Amino acid sequence: TEYRTVLVEKRGAVTLVTLNRPEALNALNSEVLKELTEVFGDYDSDASQRCLVLTGSGEKAFAAGADIKEMQPQGFADMYSADFFAGWERITSTRKPWIAAVAGYALGGGCEVAMMADFIIAADTAKFGQPEIKLAVTPGMGGSQRLAHAIGKAKAMEMCLTGRMMDAAEAEQSGLVAKVVPANELVTEAVKTAEAIAAMPPLAAIAAKEMVNAAFELPLAQGIRFERRLFHGLFGTEDQKEGMAAFVEKRPGNWKGR
Ligand code: HXC
Repeated sequence: TEYRTVLVEKRGAVTLVTLNRPEALNALNSEVLKELTEVFGDYDSDASQRCLVLTGSGEKAFAAGADIKEMQPQGFADMYSADFFAGWERITSTRKPWIAAVAGYALGGGCEVAMMADFIIAADTAKFGQPEIKLAVTPGMGGSQRLAHAIGKAKAMEMCLTGRMMDAAEAEQSGLVAKVVPANELVTEAVKTAEAIAAMPPLAAIAAKEMVNAAFELPLAQGIRFERRLFHGLFGTEDQKEGMAAFVEKRPGNWKGR
């Protein structure tokens, strides 16, 4: 499929998706959402694809936010009746693993989409922020919630109230990103990490993702029960037999995804 606002490339079992509106610093308009929804849907249903990397075109920005020019004329009734931004929940309900690879600006909606990923790998040039308050609005795609979960109340509150940016080093130290790499190695490193995940038994990968996410939604006792049931369930798979046999026989596992 040809898209106008994103580039999609399959590299073996890894889908590389590049936000491609460099003239607007990859600002996220409704066309980007529509196309990403299709791309993530295809990814989830394509058994040959086992991890996805979402990155931005150019070195200047991952995404400088939701498209301000598109939002400017909207009123409450427009936003409320369209349930504006609710469509992003399709992206967050992706079942298979995906990584955000961030170079340059990840601001507003850009930061929020990066935080929708299972984890973020940042270039040393990355700058994260929720500057919406400067436009007299607030985060609207989950930023206040995900940022508070990721970096705690003090920094999340400070960032949402002042709109200041956080650089890559602070983002790593605060737990917002999994690691920081030199900008010119960002995509290579992210794809390499994605390949490592793609080589894992796919059902265990989905289960691991589901249970870590549950930690942010369930009380501890329920989360632990949820984890244990998923763990038990994996003993019903052929891959569990294969994985443990391969260990005992000192050879690599050969995964079926069943
Ligand atoms: C639409 C955008 C944009 C955005 C940049 N552009 N960000 N267009 N929506 N979010 C456009 C500019 O208008 C400009 O187009 C071109 O991209 C290049 O941007 P410049 O500002 O000229 O670049 P620079 O001077 O280098 O500054 C970079 C920047 C700045 C610091 C990132 O662009 C900026 O502050 N952008 C807005 C950041 C922001 O507020 N994001 C949050 C958006 S609200 P032209 O045509 O002039 O060349 C949001 C809401 C989420 O995400 C939910 C709550 C509603």
